[in-house]
Amino acid sequence: MSKITAAITAVGAYVPDYVLTNQILETMVDTNDEWITTRTGIKERRILKGEGKGTSFLAIQAAKDLIAKKGIDPKDIELVIVATATPDMKAASTSAFTATQIGAVNAFSFDLEAACSSFLYGMSTAAKYIESGRYKNVLLIGADKNSSMINYEDRATCIIFGDGAGAVLFEPNEEGYGLQDEYLRSDGSGREFLQAKYGGSSYPTTVEALENKEQYVFQDGRTVFKNAVSNMADVAVKILERNNLTNNDISWLVAHQANKRIIDATASRMELDEDKVMMNIHKYGNTTSATLPLLLNDYESKLKKGDKLIFAAFGGGFTWGAIYLNWAYNS
Ligand code: UT7
Repeated sequence: MSKITAAITAVGAYVPDYVLTNQILETMVDTNDEWITTRTGIKERRILKGEGKGTSFLAIQAAKDLIAKKGIDPKDIELVIVATATPDMKAASTSAFTATQIGAVNAFSFDLEAACSSFLYGMSTAAKYIESGRYKNVLLIGADKNSSMINYEDRATCIIFGDGAGAVLFEPNEEGYGLQDEYLRSDGSGREFLQAKYGGSSYPTTVEALENKEQYVFQDGRTVFKNAVSNMADVAVKILERNNLTNNDISWLVAHQANKRIIDATASRMELDEDKVMMNIHKYGNTTSATLPLLLNDYESKLKKGDKLIFAAFGGGFTWGAIYLNWAYNS
């Protein structure tokens, strides 16, 4: 029997209706469209509105989109992983709620948190369950309601983040399509540069913390930027080299959408032409765990069976890595 690889066989996505444009942000904080566009590439982002609607709301819509497109019976899904940095609640699994709501009643489920690398690490994790031969249908969802942890008076962060979700289905493949190689890293010395300090177990929320708005995300953008540029490019080049791939072999770079300049720098180190770089940061901003599947969803019609994709991400922690995957279907 040939080796089992883990192939992506379907994609789905969801973004909320409300569009927060650069022009609206100009009325909220001291910023302007020109600065945001040239420094980040972002024009607008989506925000989830509505009492009690959390990350699971986004995840459920993305999963339902995939299920409808692929025409699968949710009862056949065996595992649901929700990659997220913004779970609905503490202690209760967002994935369990999501799985039940989509009718994946025979699945087990868990959340996976690695900041902006959550989906990338999730791809690695989902693939292992498939490669083991024990599971045939693994649903991986990347979803984040970033607006729940953003201070809309802080121009350093509120211009960047948006809400959204994307989902992919992993299935076994015996023709060699799917995940080929991965190089995943982390470095905890980066924690202080991107974090929401209060509200976790180290620093439970206090009245004083709330008054000082310390439950919201803080980012030392310049330090994160420097680390993102060098580390994301390093791992992308490393995965090319160790798989004997050149820029000509690569069909697409699927890079975390945090800043267009970081993506451009990674593509430049890989010597990739612009037309091989998936990009949708202008529409959605940084949706944390959702950027990679939202790219796949937007570009699905252009993807061809056998295309070689390099995924790359960098995020809080720090966490980062790259994955090499062969696309398994024509849509
Ligand atoms: O996804 C997780 C990983 N996250 C990332 O990868 C994000 C990495 N960081 C970045 O993308 C960029 O650092 C930012 C977009 C956050 C900031 O861009 P930057 O080019 O690094 O700007 P900066 O923080 O160095 O600030 C430059 C100037 C400062 O003014 P002075 O000190 O030079 O007078 C800031 O106060 O720009 C100012 N500034 C702004 N001006 C207008 C900062 N934010 C804004 C703003 N509008 N929104």
